[in-house]
Amino acid sequence: MTDVPSIQLNDGNSIPQLGFGVFQIPPEETAEATRVALELGYRHIDTAEMYGNEREVGEALRASGLDRGEVFVTSKLNNGYHRPDDARRAFDQTLSELGFDYVDLFLIHWPLPTLYDGDYVSTWKTLEEFKADGRARSIGVSNFEVDHLERLAAETDVVPAVNQIELHPYLLNEEVRSYGEEHGIATEAWSPLKQGEVLRDPVIVEIAERAARTPAQVVLRWHVQRGNIVFPKSTTPERIRENFELFDFELEPGDIERINGLDRGEAGRNGPHPDRMAYTG
Ligand SMILES: NC(=O)c1ccc[n+]([C@@H]2O[C@H](COP(=O)([O-])OP(=O)(O)OC[C@H]3O[C@@H](n4cnc5c(N)ncnc54)[C@H](OP(=O)(O)O)[C@@H]3O)[C@@H](O)[C@H]2O)c1
Repeated sequence: MTDVPSIQLNDGNSIPQLGFGVFQIPPEETAEATRVALELGYRHIDTAEMYGNEREVGEALRASGLDRGEVFVTSKLNNGYHRPDDARRAFDQTLSELGFDYVDLFLIHWPLPTLYDGDYVSTWKTLEEFKADGRARSIGVSNFEVDHLERLAAETDVVPAVNQIELHPYLLNEEVRSYGEEHGIATEAWSPLKQGEVLRDPVIVEIAERAARTPAQVVLRWHVQRGNIVFPKSTTPERIRENFELFDFELEPGDIERINGLDRGEAGRNGPHPDRMAYTG
């Protein structure tokens, strides 16, 4: 079975660098997709309260016969629950949906600086409680910009273990990534394939042909060699397998540079800008 490297987090825990994402997988398909991923060797699953499929992730893990401790599971606080009491209830609900007594990693899904009087600091301090009581082994954030991270550093005691941000060849998000690197915050790259769009890029296709690999493998390998944590989503068993086969080849430095050169900055962004995201539905 492929050996997935681990990344050491700033709190001493470690996370498999490659996992399986379940965003936009309908609940009725989630248990089967997660089952396939676990069977192929994935040991890291990324879900969220917002995705509506935490229950099925927990079911798949229990059905797999693996021990709870063998699989790293992340979930995230939904946008409607930033106030401390709501966050406490939402976290209880996440554990109950998953059927677990702890998660490996719990994240604030979005900073929402235009909501809750811009107060994501008390939300973060609430996540610190979950870490202190052991129900979240690690805590982190998602979609935080540099100024949001600086504010946490100034006003709180615990540095996020990770920041999960949109990052792929069309949006390198370099300012946020390098802030993380300088401050011990691991970068998780969401939509690592830009939901499939970058796989048609001629540069990616050419590198893939030369390496006798698929475009998805080239893009995911690029992430891995840059140190990003990734969890591509697929409901197609053959792709779930393909996305896991990344550790028996290497891209040359020149190819990494060419892929870096595909960055389109803000024009390459797929999702909302974190400063403006205000959806709580
Ligand atoms: N924190 C956040 O705000 C946030 C936001 C978005 C995503 N995420 C996380 O990041 C994970 C991944 O991002 P994502 O789901 O948006 O997008 P993604 O992983 O970049 O792309 C998924 C899409 O690519 C296709 N695909 C996957 N592997 C492929 C392959 N080998 N060849 C061709 N096509 C392939 C999938 O199709 P099929 O399924 O049809 O095979 C699906 O349409 C999510 O599942 C979630 O865990 C987090």
